[in-house]
Amino acid sequence: MASQVVGVSKSRTKTAEASSLDVYEAKTKRSRKMYLEARKVLAGGQSHNARFFEPYPFYASRAKGKYIWDVDNNRYVDYWMGHTALILGHSPTVVSEVLASQIRNGLLFGSPNKYAVELAELVSSCVPCAESIRFCTSGAEATMYAVRLARAYTKRKQIVKMAGGWHGYNSALSVGVSFPYEVPESAGLDPSDEHLVRLARFNDVDSTSKLLSRDSSDVAAVILEPLMGAGGVLPADLEYLKALREQCDKIGALLIFDEIITGFRLALGGAQEYYGVQPDLCTLGKILGGGLPASAVAGRREILDLVDMTAHRPKQERCWIGGGTFSEQALAMRAGIATLDHLRKRKNAIYPAIGKLGYQIRKEVDKTFAEHNIASKSTGAGSLFATHFLKRDQNDIRSPQDVVSSDEAMTKKYYFSLISNHGIFYLPGHVGAISTCHSNSDVDHYVRSTEIVADRLDSDRSNSKA
Ligand SMILES: Cc1ncc(COP(=O)(O)O)c(C=O)c1O
Repeated sequence: MASQVVGVSKSRTKTAEASSLDVYEAKTKRSRKMYLEARKVLAGGQSHNARFFEPYPFYASRAKGKYIWDVDNNRYVDYWMGHTALILGHSPTVVSEVLASQIRNGLLFGSPNKYAVELAELVSSCVPCAESIRFCTSGAEATMYAVRLARAYTKRKQIVKMAGGWHGYNSALSVGVSFPYEVPESAGLDPSDEHLVRLARFNDVDSTSKLLSRDSSDVAAVILEPLMGAGGVLPADLEYLKALREQCDKIGALLIFDEIITGFRLALGGAQEYYGVQPDLCTLGKILGGGLPASAVAGRREILDLVDMTAHRPKQERCWIGGGTFSEQALAMRAGIATLDHLRKRKNAIYPAIGKLGYQIRKEVDKTFAEHNIASKSTGAGSLFATHFLKRDQNDIRSPQDVVSSDEAMTKKYYFSLISNHGIFYLPGHVGAISTCHSNSDVDHYVRSTEIVADRLDSDRSNSKA
């Protein structure tokens, strides 16, 4: 039996989890060592909270297409796909070829450049609301700018966001992200940010309408992910989005779609195309940079005009966003162009194909668990998916609150078993994403692996009852 890992207490029982743990530790010895080394120089052993899972994450060494390898040379079929950014898989030829040529011709111009103009034109032609665009580098930066723009444009302060909604670690929106929603997300946040945020219940038209009608003239914007990612991979109801659009128009607030995940993913034009509901502003990231860091805030020209320095507005009337050294970074712009161009030319084939694989996984996984008398609910839309396990009193998962009430321990066991025993990398508790490199045979493998895990979870349950 392997020895205990720093910071992780383990009680081993003869359950599926324990055996997955043994298998995982036996096959990831170098990762384990690297994790212990990493903890000496990287706080917590790595740099993104979501990437950690117990007992320690594997450390990647390379990736290509649908596969990722760890430092122990284990190969996994990747369904996390770089936080869902890699719609064309790892290092697709269309992207790596342009990067190889750009690498010799300037990494960071620090000047307006022709590739940024080209990418902006592409984005504008694909995304319905994107009349005008500002590029930045991360999703957190883009949502921070979107909030600032909304406040500047409306001259109001309050922001309505979803309880459980995740928009990156920008302070203005680091409110009510994780349960319990009333407790501050982190030490070090200014409580005044919290007072400027109202938390709405996702997909609940009535309670959200009430929330919006209270002191409605103070509400600058409603921001939401049209498909909540970190909150549980939960698509909005069309009726909910339509109601938000109507309410925002009525009270003079802006509607902001955070399309960092859904942009170029649910459809080429993102969720706004998929649902046919147009926001005033949207944020884009992930797929936008084709695997490199790029993000954007985009929307109605009239709003983005507030950032135009040629207007020479007095300081208090302009909206200053766009201070990133690495904004419009040449490699990211070129990777973005190559990716979006590829998607645009093949959208009629790509989106139905990856959407069908996502649908099959959602359907087959639930069918498999039902055959083992385990109540699961796979959520998502198009190529995005996640599986949740219902507790006795639950019959559906429609909001982050439902996810919090579900059997999250079972969810972790399931995904950890896929990693340890089946060579499937689905980051436990996060978002599954299909890329153009995945195929029917991957779905078959995923479902067959699920069958084995379901069988073991079922027999563990019977044993623990006996
Ligand atoms: C919906 C959403 N918004 C914003 C962000 C933040 O993006 P970034 O990680 O690039 O800062 C994320 C990241 O996962 C996200 O899922």
